[in-house]
Amino acid sequence: MKRFEDTAKRCADRVREEQKVRLVSHIDADGLASAAIATKAIERAGIRVEVDFVKQLDELVLDRIGRSASGVVIFTDLGSSMIGEMAKYAFTPIILDHHIPPDVDSDTENFDFHLNPHFFGINGSYELSGSGVAYIFAQMLAENHENRDLADMAIVGAVGDLQDKKYRQLVGVNRQILEEASELGIISYEKDLRIFGRQTRPIQRMLQYSSEPHLPGITGDERGCLDFFSRVGISLKDADDMRWRRWIDLTPDEKQRIVSGLVEHCVKHGVDGVERLIGEVYTLSREPVGSELRDATEFSTLLNSTARYGEAQIGLRIAMGDREEAYKRSKELLREHRRNLTAGVNFVKETGITVLKNIQYFNAGDHIKETIVGIIAGMSVNTLSKENLPIVGFAKCDDGLKVSARAPYSLVKRGLNLADAITASAKEVNGFGGGHDIAAGGVIPENQMERFLVMLDEEVGKQIN
Ligand code: C5P
Ligand code: C5P
Ligand code: ZN
Repeated sequence: MKRFEDTAKRCADRVREEQKVRLVSHIDADGLASAAIATKAIERAGIRVEVDFVKQLDELVLDRIGRSASGVVIFTDLGSSMIGEMAKYAFTPIILDHHIPPDVDSDTENFDFHLNPHFFGINGSYELSGSGVAYIFAQMLAENHENRDLADMAIVGAVGDLQDKKYRQLVGVNRQILEEASELGIISYEKDLRIFGRQTRPIQRMLQYSSEPHLPGITGDERGCLDFFSRVGISLKDADDMRWRRWIDLTPDEKQRIVSGLVEHCVKHGVDGVERLIGEVYTLSREPVGSELRDATEFSTLLNSTARYGEAQIGLRIAMGDREEAYKRSKELLREHRRNLTAGVNFVKETGITVLKNIQYFNAGDHIKETIVGIIAGMSVNTLSKENLPIVGFAKCDDGLKVSARAPYSLVKRGLNLADAITASAKEVNGFGGGHDIAAGGVIPENQMERFLVMLDEEVGKQIN
């Protein structure tokens, strides 16, 4: 950690030499949170920042940036994979990333301003997110801990990247940041039901849409949900104002009855992984009760519903504190995002998932937007597939086919590294990719799906056998 902080300090010192910098970030919740943290910290240091968001940093995108930039360009939540290519441009790159660098064993870390946990014995898939990296950088830019108040966004980013999924709680450096946020009183954490929508959804909807684990007769089953609540004796509406009750409206005793009922239900139906129902949840104490900003997971979904639809500046403004115009607009985007997710999962359900030897896949063509096909791959695998195999989703994009892959932890334990497998297979068909062991993505030429699948199937087989 000391070495990591030294590098963070070097990056911060370099930024202080500038009057204005550019910042480039990724279009997901962690990317937005990263950009918000870095931007605030830099502005507080009296330096101006111009922020851009990109779907991914490929050669074309880098070239567009490289041709127009001089001075310092800060990359948050991306950049490590393109470090080699950056040398040919006039700007000075500062990289605050957490994706697996393509040559993690080489000496690219010796490059002055490359802050990536993977070089420092910290695992960037679950111990530190892009926004966590930005947070450490922000601390180095401030005197007297004045940037500690940005810790809640670091938690939103980490949770947005599902970094709390492996242990059902944040660990590693993420946990240190969590403790700082908690000491400051801006985040609280507790053990609770880990189902999406605790702040905003009527409880029956919350259960109906739960997918981790899949609850037979409850997930996706409105009637089944209502039956469940009547069985455990919980009324869905408030007796006084007849409003639908949310998880946060229930008494501790009622919550306990529901949890026990769910566990019993899972045992009865032979559901694996009942323990996944319970784990840590993160509450942003400064946000209003019942708002999607109060729960870290719901906040991250709100952010995703902006940037993944070309509205990254809206998400950035919310992550930086706007609760007026940008926040209002995001509510519409959120509704649209939810509709798209439901439609996407339904599409996969109807077309089916094809199972190969070591992987399974679906091709959404242009039925699913490339920027959310990864989320849908992750959602589908829980509800639609019994196979313990990585899932790969394809969707059309401007440059060909977008690839998004997600894996179960059991396979990562056996040696699976999706970032390596996708990168290698994509390269064979003139594409590119990257990411983490557990989740990775890329782009390949449109007519190369079959060949890519053969390569990936073989590559994954080699890793896990
Ligand atoms: O680009 P970035 O690192 O920010 O994104 C990480 C991605 O990995 C997210 O889309 C997240 O949903 C996914 N992920 C996952 N399962 C995990 C951990 C991360 O699907 N257990
Ligand atoms: O796009 P998707 O959600 O599938 O991305 C999964 C992970 O792979 C993310 O961490 C993302 O940043 C990474 N990725 C990448 N290069 C790409 C596409 C995705 O590093 N071309
Ligand atoms: Zn990230």
